[in-house]
Order: sequence, then C-alpha cells, then structure tokens
Amino acid sequence: MEEPKSSAPSSRSEPGQGGQGDGAGGAIILFFILGLAASLLVGWVAFPALLYSEKRQPVDFNHALHNEIVDHGCASCHFFRADGGFSGAPKLAQCIECHREANSDDPEEIRFVEEYVKPGREVPWLVYARQPDCVFFSHAAHVRLGGIDCAVCHGPMGESTSLRPYQENRITGYSRDIWGWNIAGIKRNSWDRMKMDDCAECHAQARVPGGSVQTQKDGCFVCHK
Ligand code: HEC
Ligand code: HEC
Ligand code: HEC
Ligand code: HEC
Ligand code: HEC
Repeated sequence: MEEPKSSAPSSRSEPGQGGQGDGAGGAIILFFILGLAASLLVGWVAFPALLYSEKRQPVDFNHALHNEIVDHGCASCHFFRADGGFSGAPKLAQCIECHREANSDDPEEIRFVEEYVKPGREVPWLVYARQPDCVFFSHAAHVRLGGIDCAVCHGPMGESTSLRPYQENRITGYSRDIWGWNIAGIKRNSWDRMKMDDCAECHAQARVPGGSVQTQKDGCFVCHK
C-alpha cells in the first residue's frame, strides 16, 4: 500500500509578505512543527498502543536454547503427522521426557513444571500467526510441496531466546502479525504482515492455480472455507 501523497499546491507568497518580521513567520513554522510532531506522536505511538492489547505467553520459551539440545531440530516439536497434518504449537508430549522434574532453578522452568507438567495441563500457547476461522491454510502445501522456509512467513522466531508478547487488535481480534507491524502499511520483510493480499501476492508470483484474489468466485474457495 502506498501512502496518499498530499499534493500541496505551489502557492506563491504574496508580495509584501516576505517583508514581515521573521518573528511571526518563525512562530508559524514552530506551530506547524509542533503540530506535526504531536500528530505523528498520536499516529505512530498512541494509536497503535490504543489499538492493540498485549498478552504475555503463558510460559516464556527459549528456542535457541532448545534447538541445541533436541535431536531433530525444529521437527522435534513442530512436525508433520502421518496424515500430513501439521502438529503446530507443541503439546506437553514434546516436552515431558525432559521436564518431568525441573532441570534447573530457572523460575520459568519451575513454573512450567509445577503449573503444567505435573497437573498434565496443556499450555494454552498464543499463536502469533493465527488466521481467522474462515481461512484455510495448510503447512504441508507450503513447506513440503512448496519448499518454503519457516522464516519466510514467520521471521526469525525459531532462533529467538524469548517469546515476545502477543498483540491483539482490539477491534478485529486479529493478531498483529496478520494485521501488520507498520501502521503505514510498509512491508520490509515477507513476514511483517500476512493479510489476504500478502498470501495472494506470493501466490501470483508462484503461479498457484486459483490462488490469487480473483473476481471469479471459485478463486475464493482456495483459501476460504
Ligand atoms: C523443544 C520444542 C521446540 C523446538 C525444538 C522448536 N520450537 Fe518453535 N515453538 C515451540 C513452542 C513451545 C512455541 C510457542 C507456541 C506458539 O507460539 O504458538 C513455538 C513457536 C514457534 C513459532 C511461532 C508460531 C506462532 O505463530 O505462534 C514458530 C514460527 C516456530 N516455533 C518455529 C520454530 C523453528 C523454525 C524451529 C527450529 C529452528 C523451532 N520452532 C523449534 C517449541 C519448539
Ligand atoms: C531434549 C530435552 C528437552 C525438551 C524436549 C524440552 N526441554 Fe525445556 N529445557 C531443557 C533443558 C536441559 C533446559 C535448560 C535448563 C537450564 O537452564 O539449564 C530447558 C529449559 C526450559 C525452560 C526454562 C528456560 C526457558 O526456556 O525460558 C522452559 C520454560 C522450558 N524448558 C520449556 C519447555 C517446553 C514448553 C518444552 C516442550 C515444548 C520443552 N521445554 C522441551 C530440556 C528440554
Ligand atoms: C507460507 C507461509 C508459512 C510457512 C512457510 C510456514 N508457516 Fe507456520 N503458519 C503460517 C500461518 C498462516 C499460520 C496460521 C494458520 C492458521 O491460523 O490456520 C501458521 C501457524 C504456525 C504455528 C501455530 C500452528 C497451530 O496451528 O497451532 C506454528 C507452530 C508454525 N506455524 C510453525 C511453522 C514452522 C516450524 C514452519 C517451517 C517448518 C512453518 N510454520 C512454515 C504460515 C506459514
Ligand atoms: C511465500 C509464498 C506464499 C505465501 C506467503 C502463501 N502461500 Fe499459499 N501457496 C504457496 C505455494 C508455492 C503453493 C503451492 C504449493 C504446491 O502445491 O506446490 C501454495 C498453496 C496454497 C494452498 C493450496 C492450493 C491448492 O491448490 O490446494 C492454499 C489453500 C494456500 N496456499 C493458502 C495460503 C494462505 C491462506 C496464505 C496466507 C495466510 C498463503 N497461502 C500464503 C505460496 C505461498
Ligand atoms: C490466497 C488466499 C486467499 C484468497 C484466494 C482469498 N482470500 Fe479472502 N482472506 C484471506 C486471508 C488470509 C484473510 C484474513 C486476513 C485478512 O483479513 O486480510 C481473508 C479475509 C477475507 C475477508 C474478511 C473476513 C474476516 O473475517 O475479516 C473476506 C470478506 C474475504 N477474505 C473475501 C474473499 C473473497 C470474496 C475472495 C475471492 C474473490 C477471497 N477472499 C479470496 C485469504 C484469501
């Protein structure tokens, strides 16, 4: 998306105006700058803060630490089941062989063991990439058939040392990872946003049949159920 450019008419200063004291002109410019700064502050800082509510993950999890000690890399916790379905966020079963008891005095690990492992309670992970229910998405199509790297859609999450807060749009209920991180809509990385147009943009490039947002209705049911 491009920002609309306000086309300022090239107004010429009236004759005589330039002769006025610099004080008045300076004050006007100062007011303009202050006004601009204030509206930028509202637009870039206050508005997103109001629009998104932050939730902490139930347990903080260190990917970098675990990648070193598991046997099968990412697939130790995120794998394809025999039916081709994607396991998604890990279940306790992926943690339990190492965490029956705490391995350390790390308070986060102790809390994880006491609150989840011992009572056998699944961790209610918040999924940053969660799409609305009407959207159909298959990891098998993208990772196995498409050969697309996790990071193309998720960013460097798999290398992180901590799970960042989950941000939820107060109006739509969408995760901020879908709606996008830059409120001006600028996209620097492929994973900055994953709205309908972002899915369709890659589909158009990869020439996925029916996978771009077309006007024919049957195109819609590739991604919608
Ligand atoms: C020991 C288990 C474990 C291993 C190994 C692991 N992860 Fe994770 N992963 C987790 C847990 C726990 C979460 C938190 C659940 C969540 O955010 O949905 C998570 C979340 C994620 C997410 C966030 C999904 C979302 O949108 O919320 C991505 C992406 C991810 N992992 C990628 C990777 C990649 C890539 C690797 C390998 C480099 C990897 N993981 C290795 C346990 C693991
Ligand atoms: C192969 C063994 C193994 C598996 C599988 C494993 N962990 Fe760990 N985990 C460890 C070890 C070892 C530590 C490090 C303890 C230390 O700090 O020395 C650790 C540390 C932690 C910590 C504290 C450090 C941190 O990440 O903030 C948490 C929380 C944790 N694990 C959660 C999990 C969860 C949730 C799963 C399943 C998705 C999981 N672990 C799977 C071995 C494992
Ligand atoms: C083409 C983009 C894309 C690629 C590539 C991709 N993902 Fe995802 N991932 C998504 C989307 C979109 C969702 C949300 C799906 C939904 O809400 O139905 C998601 C959800 C997830 C979740 C949470 C799933 C759940 O259902 O609980 C995890 C974990 C995850 N991805 C990990 C990975 C890992 C690991 C890889 C690499 C092996 C990977 N993803 C590759 C787009 C992608
Ligand atoms: C980085 C590129 C990329 C992104 C981003 C992407 N896709 Fe795809 N998608 C592909 C490719 C490539 C295929 C075809 C895989 C194959 O069959 O070889 C595909 C296939 C699909 C299919 C299966 C189509 C069929 O014919 O069965 C669905 C459904 C789908 N994508 C939904 C989505 C949704 C929903 C999103 C956004 C949340 C998304 N995709 C984002 C590249 C992408
Ligand atoms: C490439 C996959 C893809 C295709 C094709 C596609 N959509 Fe979507 N659509 C999405 C995704 C992902 C979302 C959720 C993110 C968003 O709102 O942008 C969405 C959201 C929507 C929403 C908003 C739903 C809500 O609950 O907010 C509507 C309405 C919609 N699509 C209609 C259509 C129609 C009509 C077509 C056919 C012309 C179509 N879509 C084709 C992926 C797709």
